[in-house]
Amino acid sequence: MNQNINIDISLCHANKISSNHGFIDEELESLNRQIKEYHNEIIQERKVKKYGFFELYKDKGTIEKIKNAAAEFLNHGIENLVILGIGGSALGTTALNTALNGPYYNLLSREQRNGFPRLFVMDNIDPTTFKRVMGLCPPEKTLYNAISKSGETAETICQLLIVLKELENYFSPEKIKEHLVITTSPKGENTPKSLLHPIAEKYSTVQFEIPINVGGRFSVFSPVSLFPASLLGFDIEALSEGCAEMDTECSNSSIENNPAYQFAGVHYFLDKNKGKKISVMMPYSDRLKDIAGWYCQLWAESLGKKDDIDGNKIFNGQTPVKALGATDQHSQIQLYREGPNDKIINMILVKNLGEVLTVPEILDEIPELEYIRGQSMNDLLYAEFQGTKDALTLSQRPVVLIQMEKVSEYTVAQLLYMLEVATAMAGKLYRVNAFNQPGVEEGKRIARRLMLEKKQNSVQKCATIHL
Ligand code: PA5
Repeated sequence: MNQNINIDISLCHANKISSNHGFIDEELESLNRQIKEYHNEIIQERKVKKYGFFELYKDKGTIEKIKNAAAEFLNHGIENLVILGIGGSALGTTALNTALNGPYYNLLSREQRNGFPRLFVMDNIDPTTFKRVMGLCPPEKTLYNAISKSGETAETICQLLIVLKELENYFSPEKIKEHLVITTSPKGENTPKSLLHPIAEKYSTVQFEIPINVGGRFSVFSPVSLFPASLLGFDIEALSEGCAEMDTECSNSSIENNPAYQFAGVHYFLDKNKGKKISVMMPYSDRLKDIAGWYCQLWAESLGKKDDIDGNKIFNGQTPVKALGATDQHSQIQLYREGPNDKIINMILVKNLGEVLTVPEILDEIPELEYIRGQSMNDLLYAEFQGTKDALTLSQRPVVLIQMEKVSEYTVAQLLYMLEVATAMAGKLYRVNAFNQPGVEEGKRIARRLMLEKKQNSVQKCATIHL
């Protein structure tokens, strides 16, 4: 079985969707020359370790540490794993869990879960949700993993303080480390201070490091997601092998042989030249639906930039949208076919979905059901995929096809790694810094200031009352 994922951009060619909407060979060749140049830049930058995400899968020492720590916590019989984190500290874990454990995993019995814990990814601060999850997860059976690269994200800090109080109510201080793991940036003189360091030290928790040159949304192959993945019983070596295979493919300097550069190139070209301002990620598999969410953050936060690298105001960025086949054929496809022709639709097909469900050969008295009787649900999903793809092409809408044989650690890692490299190349093409997020940082700073002002005002009010 071919385990490698496959990308096909031929449905974005002018010969399929006209030169108003697609590229012609000469345009692709000229793009290829640009890409080759940027490829060499990336190689040089990798050498000086500018971006850490490329190399995460090679870190055997960290993989070993993760596996040992996970085995130890699993020996204590934890029933629930609760992630406290947001954005890049959460989306990768959700994507891996949905892909590899499938939908409704938390509803399975412990036996059906092969003894692995349920997973709750707390990536928001809605008190109703948070309280409910805490109620569902008794502290003695729960491991919390607080994850924040900066160690200062208010949402995560807020969650952690609430959890710590609960843990302090239940356990003696020396027992807390059995229920809490901290993942944050490394401690060092030249690294920004993380507020999670003193907390980890106070309770002597297990700590994992997010390398300083790995941004949150590029951290899925760091302990951010690998530790939860290991606790959930995923084969993290197979994840690493998938990355290695994709790294080899993405080492090709030419667009024809490099899936990431095809993805980046076609998105960039059609955005800049054919007005495709929206990138839709539409897997035809429930297991991959959260990869679409992960992709949205990666593409949006990396490429949505006010300034280019020379400081010119360019207000760059394609808007990513998540969709799910066949579900969203009944909600969004009408717009995608007949609305503004401003989208690239990335359709992901999984050839082997694992289960096969046959439609029973019943109700012979209704001849209109003949087309479906005795066929499989899988056949119908495939037909829906083909039908939508062909209909979009007929309407001259560019489609990028991504095909994978099945959903496994190996293939999912390939897909995520490919999209990360594509984002790095897209950053080069758009001439933006794909690795910072000044727009997010500003919001974080304002929220913290508002909280402080509110606190100071209430202290002042109290002081006045006491006078
Ligand atoms: O990609 C990013 O850098 C962001 O989305 C972060 O992951 C997110 O803001 C959370 O930051 P932190 O991990 O520092 O708490």
